[in-house]
Amino acid sequence: MENQTETVDRRRRVILFPLPYQGHINPMLQLANLLYSKGFSITILHTNYNKPKTSNYPHFTFRFILDNDPHDERYSNLPLHGMGALSRVLLFNQYGADQLCLQLEQELSAKDEPSVSCLITDALWHFAQLVADSLSLPRLVLRTSSLFSFLIYASIPLLDDRGYLSLSDNTTTPILDGLGYHDLSDNTTTPILDGLGYHDLSDNKRLEEQVEEFPMLKVKDIVKMGFKREKDGVVGVIDNMVKQMKASSGIIWNSFKELEESELETVRRDIPAPSFPIPFAKHFTASSSSLLEHDRSFFPWLDQQPPKSVVYVSFGSIAQVEEKHFMEMVHGLVDSKQSFLWVVRPGFVSGSTWLEPLPDGFQSERGRIVKWAPQQEVLGHEAIGAFWTHCGWNSTLESVCEGVPMICSPFRGDQPLDARYVSDVWKVGVYLENGWKREEITNAIRRVMADEEMRERSRILKQKLDASLIEGGSSYESVESLVAYVSSF
Ligand code: UDX
Repeated sequence: MENQTETVDRRRRVILFPLPYQGHINPMLQLANLLYSKGFSITILHTNYNKPKTSNYPHFTFRFILDNDPHDERYSNLPLHGMGALSRVLLFNQYGADQLCLQLEQELSAKDEPSVSCLITDALWHFAQLVADSLSLPRLVLRTSSLFSFLIYASIPLLDDRGYLSLSDNTTTPILDGLGYHDLSDNTTTPILDGLGYHDLSDNKRLEEQVEEFPMLKVKDIVKMGFKREKDGVVGVIDNMVKQMKASSGIIWNSFKELEESELETVRRDIPAPSFPIPFAKHFTASSSSLLEHDRSFFPWLDQQPPKSVVYVSFGSIAQVEEKHFMEMVHGLVDSKQSFLWVVRPGFVSGSTWLEPLPDGFQSERGRIVKWAPQQEVLGHEAIGAFWTHCGWNSTLESVCEGVPMICSPFRGDQPLDARYVSDVWKVGVYLENGWKREEITNAIRRVMADEEMRERSRILKQKLDASLIEGGSSYESVESLVAYVSSF
């Protein structure tokens, strides 16, 4: 890519504006790298919060916006970690328009820069559509989650009318009240509803029912998303996201046609703006946009392990568990008698700095625990036999990219939907539907490690993905049409 810099005349510029969280920064910077490799000049707008390491991107221009003023009380005391950190989505959408508009005006009038083709923002930056419209600047969105979760999110008003959002199950952690209005100083997870009579038996029966409009889903999958309509700002953000995606000039999806064929047809039928499904992990790794330092010290150990013998365990960049659930995980893993590589982020266990609750001698010959790992590289390692994941969309797709079957323990948002697709639609994993129970964890790990048919389905899915990337394949064509489309503005 560096050599290309010297020879390519970059006459057009694309401005990209990611949501400042790891699961969103990664695909946006992968997209930026892809567009750069196709000859565009790249400007990244970013908050100071969670800024990526700019020295990894000497070929991009970065501008930091929205939270520049340390005295601005709207943003200065927000939590840095955990669910509370997500409150920025609500606040920046609410107050960010003037600053974004100012910044874009400067970019559009800059004499010494290539002319701007378009703005590409994370879909959750819904406020950006009106700003772009006011400047007659085409705005495309990058939706970093699956197409099916978009279709389900777009149906939230209907699902709410059916009463699903007011049901509860005993494994769901609700999303923070109003994402930012309550207890933002508290970095812990919101309390788990403990099943102490919180829901009645008729709720229990409904939870297992099929959702009429989405027959692959159970009602409990909707409940587990954790959205509460009556007092939850999240649903408002989602409603606006859907509305402004429909008003955008185009939608880029981190996915591929063969994975979500009927969903892609539905989206193309219902939304006039063109859709471009592109599996970013197959084009660029996300390692240069990692917000935490990757530990690589375990590779010599991993290299020694037999093929397909190690369970990789990781729950993304945000999830947190209570200590009692962490201990269920520990016992479930030990009792499975499988080798493991486990990413435990500092703060993953509520109330602990890192590994304090672990029994002595836990990291024996059988396993390694690290704070953060180069996940794509790990999943591509021949020693990895299964991925125990929270089913964040990046993790899910990275696993599909490497043909690794999954054990699914989703937390909230799109994750329970991804878990259902992994287990029931693509059949490349087992969904631990009943929360953290050591025997179920042990059984699921053993089953996924031993199930050759599941491994074969994972391999076939990977093959389809690989085939989509070669000339004439769906993902290849998607990249070509996106480049042509962006060049046409
Ligand atoms: C969030 C949401 O939780 C998720 O549901 C949504 O789809 C995207 O945003 P997150 O929870 O962080 O993301 O999970 P995920 O989407 O899987 O993204 C995590 C990223 O961090 C992946 O790209 C993964 O490769 C990377 N990662 C994870 C590392 O680089 N190292 C690690 O040790 C763990």
